[in-house]
Amino acid sequence: MSTTASSFKQAEHKLLSVPGPVEVTDEVLFANAHPSMSHVSPAFAPVFGDCLRYLRKVLYTEKGQPFIIAGSGTLGWDLVAANLLEAGQKALVLNTGYFGDAFADCLETYGAKVDQLGAPVGGRPSLEEVEAALKKDKYAVLTFTHVDTSTGVLSDAKGIAETVRRVSPDTLIVLDGVCAVASEEIRMDDWEIDVVVSASQKGISVPPGVSITALSQKALKVLDSRKTPIPAYFANYKRWLPIMESYEKGTPAYFATPSVNLIYALEASLKSIVDGPVSLEDRFKMHKEAAKKFREEFMRQAGKLGFKTVATSPEGAANGMTAVYVPEGVAPPALVGALAERGIVIAGGLHKDIKTKYIRFGHMGVSVVERPSDADKILAALKDALQAVKSA
Ligand SMILES: Cc1ncc(COP(=O)(O)O)c(C=O)c1O
Repeated sequence: MSTTASSFKQAEHKLLSVPGPVEVTDEVLFANAHPSMSHVSPAFAPVFGDCLRYLRKVLYTEKGQPFIIAGSGTLGWDLVAANLLEAGQKALVLNTGYFGDAFADCLETYGAKVDQLGAPVGGRPSLEEVEAALKKDKYAVLTFTHVDTSTGVLSDAKGIAETVRRVSPDTLIVLDGVCAVASEEIRMDDWEIDVVVSASQKGISVPPGVSITALSQKALKVLDSRKTPIPAYFANYKRWLPIMESYEKGTPAYFATPSVNLIYALEASLKSIVDGPVSLEDRFKMHKEAAKKFREEFMRQAGKLGFKTVATSPEGAANGMTAVYVPEGVAPPALVGALAERGIVIAGGLHKDIKTKYIRFGHMGVSVVERPSDADKILAALKDALQAVKSA
């Protein structure tokens, strides 16, 4: 007898509470277990088309062009670097952690001249600093990380976009939303964001393996008016654009094979995000409330021991994750290990300056919307793990 969607249950496992990949629902995993399909079958094309339509809704855009390509979030950086900049053009990277460094490195790999505007660890550049930098030089592209997964710092996406539009209207605004799409509100049209870079495995709550990006009409015009050839073969939007347009019309087309099964999983997850019982607006509200509650509870338990969030201001702290410094005398690997022994998987440090001093928790997607009790499990295990680590 074959398993059905309603009878399928994923195996018992430790609760995955890292800031991505995140927990996925049984429905999404079951959709991923679709029998193997041809990527050019007429039955598959509308599934792909649905994903594109749902993504527009998630990003609040009507005219933005989503691209769904096999790969991870990093592929989005290559796409930006190879397609929206030409060698020698300037980019301004607003840096709030590891992922700013890495995006800058990727842009330079393709020949862009990069300036970075950073802040002390846990902070973010002010809008005044962004304005001053834009007045000093002319940038083809400005990038910022909406949530830097290494620090849990949240950028003021709307404020940055307003500043760029006012001071340097021709500059393309690129939002790295790998750790933000579907857990933080992103209004691509209203805020005039030109590019959103994302991936399947975080707020969207699908297994890793899909690069998701979206381009505004303005970004598409920049792509169209390039003077030099795109220095990439796979990461080439001109090759992918007709494929996306064709799938959206329900007609299969081929450039390179999509991750067919993950597209089924993506459709299932996006459908529940867009058309499920929780509205998009409520979804973002739930993430805000869950983050606030998680941090309050966490600090109630551990604050007096000397734990401290890495993000230095409440408005600059992400809603889908939290990074916290551990106090002297607590070794992050010991705490990560003690939590794993209690069924909770969290992450250690990533930012080069503080790597050995902090830990990271994810609280996004399924663990907020479908199973808010996950946070209670994490906090209960934490209490126990802290006792164990302190008395060791
Ligand atoms: C903010 C941010 N940008 C980019 C990436 C790179 O994405 P991937 O690891 O899927 O290539 C990540 C990964 O965690 C991320 O958190």
